[in-house]
Amino acid sequence: MKQNTDILVIGSGAAGLTASLELAKDFKVTLISKETFVDSSTWYAQGGIAAVLAENDTTESHIKDTLIAGDGLCDEKAVRFCIENGKSAIKWLIDSGVSFTKNESGSDYHLTKEGGHSHRRVIHAADTTGKEVSDSLAAKVLKDKNITILENHLAVDLITEDQVCKGAYVFDKEREQVITISASSTILATGGASKIYLYTSNPDGASGDGFALAWRAGCTLSNMEFNQFHPTCLYHPEAKSFLISEALRGEGAKLINHENKEFMKNYDSREELAPRDVVSRSIDEEMKKTGKDCVYLDISHKSEKEIKKSFPAIHTKCLEFGFDITKTSIPVVPAAHYTCGGVKTDLKGRTNIDSLYVIGETSCTGLHGANRMASNSLLECVVFAKSAADDIKINFVPNSHNLSNWDNSKVIRAGENIVISHNWDATRRLMWDYVGVVRSDDRLKKAKEKIKLIHDEVEDFYRNYEISSDFIELRNLVLVARIVIESASRRFESRGLHFTSDYPEKSDQAIPSLISNKDLNY
Ligand code: FAD
Ligand code: SIN
Repeated sequence: MKQNTDILVIGSGAAGLTASLELAKDFKVTLISKETFVDSSTWYAQGGIAAVLAENDTTESHIKDTLIAGDGLCDEKAVRFCIENGKSAIKWLIDSGVSFTKNESGSDYHLTKEGGHSHRRVIHAADTTGKEVSDSLAAKVLKDKNITILENHLAVDLITEDQVCKGAYVFDKEREQVITISASSTILATGGASKIYLYTSNPDGASGDGFALAWRAGCTLSNMEFNQFHPTCLYHPEAKSFLISEALRGEGAKLINHENKEFMKNYDSREELAPRDVVSRSIDEEMKKTGKDCVYLDISHKSEKEIKKSFPAIHTKCLEFGFDITKTSIPVVPAAHYTCGGVKTDLKGRTNIDSLYVIGETSCTGLHGANRMASNSLLECVVFAKSAADDIKINFVPNSHNLSNWDNSKVIRAGENIVISHNWDATRRLMWDYVGVVRSDDRLKKAKEKIKLIHDEVEDFYRNYEISSDFIELRNLVLVARIVIESASRRFESRGLHFTSDYPEKSDQAIPSLISNKDLNY
């Protein structure tokens, strides 16, 4: 089956929704999402969106903080571009119906603080900012007659000819068939890859599909060794690493060990509000030193009223697991949270493949460098979605592609799924154990050998059997894990989120890593 559209947007998080709304003013847009429309990391975002909104804050200060958090590896042009466009991005969200929390008097928006920020600059909707952004933009998209929404449609591969992207093969999960969608421009907005790790704050869909699709299409990826671990996810066997927002620390929560002792001051003068890489590594070290499985976060010194007002969702969720944050500390551990690297793009979301744009967490714009500062991600989603949309508008050429259908004539239906479930678990545990918060040459070498075996088994399966959505996700997950391991093995220094015990110092020169499919030809 074939479909044609002007613009194909793959992914319905903040980036995909923003781009769709902007482009639907002029074009027919097809927006696909592999699950339901609002199933995305965006929906789960808690803390908020960073932008220069307070009178005593400045663009230069937000830029400086972002560069410090990025540990020398940010592209200053991208940082400046994103932050200079921050205020208008927030205005666009408000005009699109997003309702942010007001301050006590109701006269202005309440701004909170998070790690690395020298000012209060995080605008938020209590502690469920992502839900508010996602639901508001989704409501607008649903009303837009120029947008066709295809839920439960999973992009399998991009279709490229002569370095030009002409659309994608898309798996309709309900009908179990692959359709061919041709488009004048294609936007990948598929979110991150934190599901490559056993413990993650991300929803199940974060299997890194966009990185893998772009890679197979010939895109260059950058900085894939920088995987961010959020310092504070709830430590409970049934909590699925539920995130405890950094905004709690912004409002005064303290990290303590099993002896009730504050420990962050032993690691960094910025204490609880140091950038995330520093706090996660400090927790990791504290856990190793004390031999305990977790540390604790305590905000109970604040009044019950304040806590319930600022963090209603976190308060309720913790109660479900038996922890009342107004009265006691809660057990927390770091978990994989954000993919700082991604498909290399310019300030307009353009890649090295014509007519292919990449935005949001799947992209590497240069904003985050070696470590993303809290709440800069949603900002990047909106700012770069808008600049990609502007570029598409200027360069639009009507779609006249005639594409071949997906060929499944040489494969048969698989009789069992054990290859999928086994390798899914094996990859995620391998990444957690060998490519985690602290790395070493020896562990990376072992990881490289092990992931190659898994990769070859999965590719063999792909050549012989019909695809399913679980299998497509596994294939992507394994490829992205391999790219991360390869990228990590090539960085002989410790910088930002990449810390290796064999090279604990930072090199004099900060060089972003670049990797493409010719680098994994073995
Ligand atoms: P996502 O929101 O992840 O959306 C990806 C979309 O792509 C989904 O619709 C998915 O179904 C779809 N998709 C994926 N693969 C395919 C495929 N093959 N075919 C079709 N569709 C596909 N950042 C902040 O700035 N502030 C915060 O407060 C904050 N809090 C966070 C809290 C949590 C718990 C998490 C997990 C993240 C948080 N982040 C926060 C990070 C931020 O939410 C994400 O980086 C951001 O939302 C990513 O947006 P996106 O549009 O790029 O992708
Ligand atoms: C949080 O609320 O701690 C998450 C913020 C982010 O990931 O930017």
